[in-house]
Amino acid sequence: MSRPVMIAPSVLPADFSRLGEEVAALEAAGVDLIQWDVMDGQFVPNLTFGPDVIASTRDRCTLPFEAHLMVLTPDAMAKDYVEAGCSRLIVHAEAVTHLHRTLGAIADLGASPAVALNPATPASAVTHVLDLVDLVLVMTVNPGFGGQDYLPTMESKVAEVRRMLVDAGRSDDVHVEVDGGIGPDTVAGAAAAGANVLVAGSSLFRDPEGLEHAVSDLRSRAEAARGGTTARA
Ligand code: DX5
Repeated sequence: MSRPVMIAPSVLPADFSRLGEEVAALEAAGVDLIQWDVMDGQFVPNLTFGPDVIASTRDRCTLPFEAHLMVLTPDAMAKDYVEAGCSRLIVHAEAVTHLHRTLGAIADLGASPAVALNPATPASAVTHVLDLVDLVLVMTVNPGFGGQDYLPTMESKVAEVRRMLVDAGRSDDVHVEVDGGIGPDTVAGAAAAGANVLVAGSSLFRDPEGLEHAVSDLRSRAEAARGGTTARA
């Protein structure tokens, strides 16, 4: 598990009337990248950020942006989100017919391709695309909303994906990310299982001691759980 611990805030719980200030505050609080939860109201029952919203904040933060595309048509949307300033696009294996082709098309756009797995989707769904991605996202909630309870049963899938990457000789090149219900009480289990990129929304924004404390606390708990190293993106 040599990939560094990275904290990736979801801006889903942020103040949408001040997104520019919010991403700047997240950078100041010490996060490693920003995750945009893109939802189309079809793949998941919620509607969120279009590319123009993301583009409007791009110059307010120097960190990488990744778009978590919880949408039914990622092939049609990919170019717009790359042009909006997202350097990684995460597509759901469940949303596309030709995942291998979709990931290759994202790479052709100059972005880092990544794949997400819903809780019921087996790790085996990514067996034949591990050579195409720089990140595998194991969802630890059913996608669509923030503030849901963490699914500890996903830890075995995190460990399985990490093992698959080791067996494929890709463990030093591919991040394992978790998203959903990640906070002080759940991050250790996910990190110990093999996750190194930790997406958190509610637990960061609701910390009474503020964002910087929340980010630092989450990072130290993850590092302690895996005894690993950490690095800013
Ligand atoms: C689910 C979303 C959430 C969000 C973070 O579709 O992807 O997981 O990023 O949610 P919480 O508030 O649980 O950290």
